[in-house]
Amino acid sequence: MSPLDDRSGERHGGLDRPHQGAAPLLELRDIRKEYALRQGLLARLTGRAERVAAVDDVSLAIQPGEVFGLVGESGCGKSTLSQIAVGLLAPSSGQVLYRGADIAALRGEARQAYRRGVQMVFQDTHSSLNPRKRIRRALAEALAASGQPRAAIPAKLLALMDQVGLDAVMLDRLPHELSGGQRQRVGIARALAMDPALLVADEPVSSLDVSLQGQIVNLLRELNARLGLTIVLVSHDLAVVARICQRIAVMQAGQIVEEGPPARVLFAPEHPYTRTLIAAVPRGLAGRRSTREVAPAEA
Ligand SMILES: Nc1ncnc2c1ncn2[C@@H]1O[C@H](COP(=O)(O)OP(=O)(O)OP(=O)(O)O)[C@@H](O)[C@H]1O
Ligand SMILES: [Mg+2]
Repeated sequence: MSPLDDRSGERHGGLDRPHQGAAPLLELRDIRKEYALRQGLLARLTGRAERVAAVDDVSLAIQPGEVFGLVGESGCGKSTLSQIAVGLLAPSSGQVLYRGADIAALRGEARQAYRRGVQMVFQDTHSSLNPRKRIRRALAEALAASGQPRAAIPAKLLALMDQVGLDAVMLDRLPHELSGGQRQRVGIARALAMDPALLVADEPVSSLDVSLQGQIVNLLRELNARLGLTIVLVSHDLAVVARICQRIAVMQAGQIVEEGPPARVLFAPEHPYTRTLIAAVPRGLAGRRSTREVAPAEA
């Protein structure tokens, strides 16, 4: 059995939760997002703006407990789709369902439960963390926002740091006093403070050195295994998603062109664009298939 076989399908992931037959945690139905192109004189005179579809009729179902990979080149619509999934951006048309309910119709408690339950980890920790807030304060505010009683916060802070593999002394640092990898761990801790069911990580490692990339990807894998956290991992790098995802969707020009377990998508790609992405992986994926041991730097 190749190492990748082990990563595919229902056997892997979370707390051995059943994937088949379970209701999706998050479902995207016929999602479309159009942006107005910069308006020219003619458009302004006629009042008609030209529009471009950044996401063009995408449907996806994320099952509880899985690690789902979304991969595609720059500009294909990954971030737009991620932001729609977490509710930061409204789709032009289509529906997002959280635990079976259309998020557009959620009010009150149910809306809060979705807001907390689906968290995003951003690529750019420089702009997503307030440079003047110490880590302790950033995380404590997130815990308070998630409804934690004040008295529970100090212990929760330590637990969060432990969960993301950071020493508690880092709590008293400012974001710029941390390395890129440490900042990304803080970004993940802040998302975990909300006690989410789903983490959408949009290019969480693309600003990091290759050696650090493996560590952060492994942290996500651990969180999935230990907490049963469902994860959508977004990346332009097929090799990154292939390492931990049980299902991969390949996106091109706003559309999903291929979807399946990595063993199938990587070694029997059906779409020409997937083959292009595979060819673009620097060290190749074919070599990984026969390599049973993952190199220490990546492990
Ligand atoms: N606010 C916006 N206004 C107009 N066009 C936008 C806006 N945001 C994104 N776009 C366009 O939508 C398309 C998809 O962008 P998006 O950021 O979702 O892609 P991406 O796959 O995340 O790319 P990357 O890998 O570079 O992060 C691009 O053509 C982009 O230029
Ligand atoms: Mg993006």
